[in-house]
Amino acid sequence: MSNPSLLILPGDGIGPEVMAEVQRIIGWYGDKRGITFDVSEDLVGGAAYDAHGTPLHDDTMAKAQSVDAVLLGAVGGPKYDVLDFSVKPERGLLRLRKEMDLFANLRPAQCFDALADFSSLKRDVVAGLDIMIVRELTSGIYFGEPRGIIEEGNERVGINTQRYTESEIDRVARSAFELAMKRGKKVCSMEKANVMESGILWREVVTEVGKEYPEVELSHMYADAGAMQLVRWPKQFDVIVTDNLFGDLLSDAAAMLTGSLGMLPSASLGAPMDNGRPKALYEPVHGSAPDIAGQGKANPIACVLSFAMALRYSFDLGEEAERLEAAVNKVLADGVRTADLLGEEGVTPVSTSGMGDAILAALDASL
Ligand code: IPM
Ligand code: MG
Repeated sequence: MSNPSLLILPGDGIGPEVMAEVQRIIGWYGDKRGITFDVSEDLVGGAAYDAHGTPLHDDTMAKAQSVDAVLLGAVGGPKYDVLDFSVKPERGLLRLRKEMDLFANLRPAQCFDALADFSSLKRDVVAGLDIMIVRELTSGIYFGEPRGIIEEGNERVGINTQRYTESEIDRVARSAFELAMKRGKKVCSMEKANVMESGILWREVVTEVGKEYPEVELSHMYADAGAMQLVRWPKQFDVIVTDNLFGDLLSDAAAMLTGSLGMLPSASLGAPMDNGRPKALYEPVHGSAPDIAGQGKANPIACVLSFAMALRYSFDLGEEAERLEAAVNKVLADGVRTADLLGEEGVTPVSTSGMGDAILAALDASL
């Protein structure tokens, strides 16, 4: 059998720095666990624009379609703000999501015990938090037509369209229920059925799918109330399923519950390929952080944990994923901190590669 294949797209800003640590961990799995990946690397975002004049070259798109999983760092940066919308770094990422049809975006928000005091919320609100946001990723207002800026009379009008088909809602709802079955057996669906027809349809379809999962307790919330509940008492949730735009907002809020955006991984999954594996792209929830790029300060944990999600969801290596997550947990419990996690007295931050060293040492210790 051939090795599983991985396409690595480090992207922009801190992307290459955090990805370098993941590369070392991938190397560790080859050396110490005999799990070898065929790794190729390519450009995305501003880096691709600089080289090819497009944020995602067609050859890179084709590679992404052919590998078992894609690992992405981050895209974007102020240098690219002046570019035309159609070639902005973000378009590269959105094209990957759309053409790979990665409709289910899994964004776990877990609070590491050692970091419970880093949240802006009180410790007892966030300690032990473990929720999963399932965000629809290939439709809704991000992609709906008509869209654009048009002239109307003597002024311009900006237009975007929120649009969901029943099948698009159905499939992402199923992903949420399947996950809930393996977790706390609760799904909360969030939309704005009080003001949006797409929300009414969303609620109806999710309710229908829910009937096939009688063991799962389904609830519905308006997304604004959901945002409020998320910061009031987040532990009431297990799996949250929501649309593309609400999911974007709610997952950033959920990220902050855990203390640092530098901690959160994500998986974007599509339909199963011929080999039974889902089409998949893994990326940290954080962005390219241009303010600290190139300084060796970035926290690589979100990217490392994204690789752990790849082990679990693409390669059926759940135990190895747990090994890596436990290594991260140990390092944090030992007090190793990157600069985004400071605040305790007398702690000197480690660099990006210092955090990588610590995680590798914890992996060694796990053998
Ligand atoms: C995210 C980001 C992206 C999004 C941007 C970079 C296009 O905010 O993944 O949450 O809006 O989906
Ligand atoms: Mg976002």
